[in-house]
Amino acid sequence: MDKPVSRTRIATELERVRLATEALIEPLGDTELRRQVSPLQSPLVWDYAHIAYFEELWLSRQVGGGEPIATGHDDIYDAFQHERDGRADLPLLDPSAARAYTAEVRERTLEVLAEVDLESEDPLVRDGFVFGMVLQHETQHQETLLQTLALRDEAYPLPERATTTAPAGPEDVSVPAGPFTLGTSEHPWAYDNERQAHEVVLDGFRIDRLPVTNARYLDFVEDQGYDEQSHWSEPGWAWRLAENATLPHGWRVSAGERARLRFGHLEPLPPDEPVQHVSFFEAEAFARWAGKRLATEQEWEKAARCRPGVETHAARFANDDDDGPEANLGGASFGPLPATPGSATACGALQLMGDVWEWTSSHFLPYPGFTPFPYPEYSEVFFGEAFRVLRGGSWASDPLVARPTARNWDYPQRRQIFAGFRCVTDA
Ligand code: AVJ
Ligand code: FE
Repeated sequence: MDKPVSRTRIATELERVRLATEALIEPLGDTELRRQVSPLQSPLVWDYAHIAYFEELWLSRQVGGGEPIATGHDDIYDAFQHERDGRADLPLLDPSAARAYTAEVRERTLEVLAEVDLESEDPLVRDGFVFGMVLQHETQHQETLLQTLALRDEAYPLPERATTTAPAGPEDVSVPAGPFTLGTSEHPWAYDNERQAHEVVLDGFRIDRLPVTNARYLDFVEDQGYDEQSHWSEPGWAWRLAENATLPHGWRVSAGERARLRFGHLEPLPPDEPVQHVSFFEAEAFARWAGKRLATEQEWEKAARCRPGVETHAARFANDDDDGPEANLGGASFGPLPATPGSATACGALQLMGDVWEWTSSHFLPYPGFTPFPYPEYSEVFFGEAFRVLRGGSWASDPLVARPTARNWDYPQRRQIFAGFRCVTDA
């Protein structure tokens, strides 16, 4: 199970991930790549050049000791310098210059890879950690690119959607009381916020077998869930009024219509797919309406790890024989799909990994003994009550990132991310 992180495997992954990035922007012309599609998102060409900038910073400059390729990138492509909605006004590299920059960075990366000692005592390079960080960063920005592409009104080419139905079964499954291991100390490419592994004891609980589906969410809509203040938290109700939210983002539902708009395509609402593009507030209101609550991130991880083999500690590569359950990951499906029986963990819950990120009730906080590594701007500066944790990865997440211990976070009002949720009740 534990495969060594070799130079060849890193090179293969760098190539695979880059081809996927290039493929995402390939259908679009320069004007579209430069355009600010939404105030919530950067212009596509910013994400594209920022991927290369992050790679240059950590590999060519930090590990390789190289000089910067250009002055100015440290301002333009540092995510902390400018808000997303101001990035279209920056002197961005145009798409062809960005492609040339990206290629030049990659040449330098491969030189660093050829020289690096993967068995070094330096934790930045040991087991290829910094390559894993750069690779995961690129795939995370692929997900960001997909969020932007999903928001455009113009049609983006999509594959045919499979017309499957979720397997029948109970509404929820039981997770017994007791201890389990939260987080990881062993995964060589885990982020600082997933460390260290530590024992957590939970009361027993029941967790939904599936993420809440479109059909189930429609029941909440049709039961006037958006009009009944008692289902909503105080900040949730304030958000619902301010946004005038009455449906998940992109839904078109009226007397004669059950549809959703995404990637510029109006599609019939598929009943068995997990709902996506709901805020934390909507998830919380649904749960209260259903007489349930959202899972904590501890409960979610316990349900996801209750099968031997799921907690693969070796860095996972796309071409590995996967030890875990089936999961819809990697972006090729361009959307969530109905659950498959093979996605079950031992407690009987399906679809914990992939399809949609799942909102949890947990704030994004450090684990005991947290140490920022390798930089505080990855996790530490986001700890606190402003963010809620999401778990499990979405259809757009790469298998390199989507692991049962991985923690994502976002503002509770965000709906452009590929997020849904599932509920729990006390046992
Ligand atoms: C972990 C998804 C919240 O996109 O802001 C990308 C990942 N960090 N570049 C984000 C990230 C730096 C991060 N999330
Ligand atoms: Fe980034």
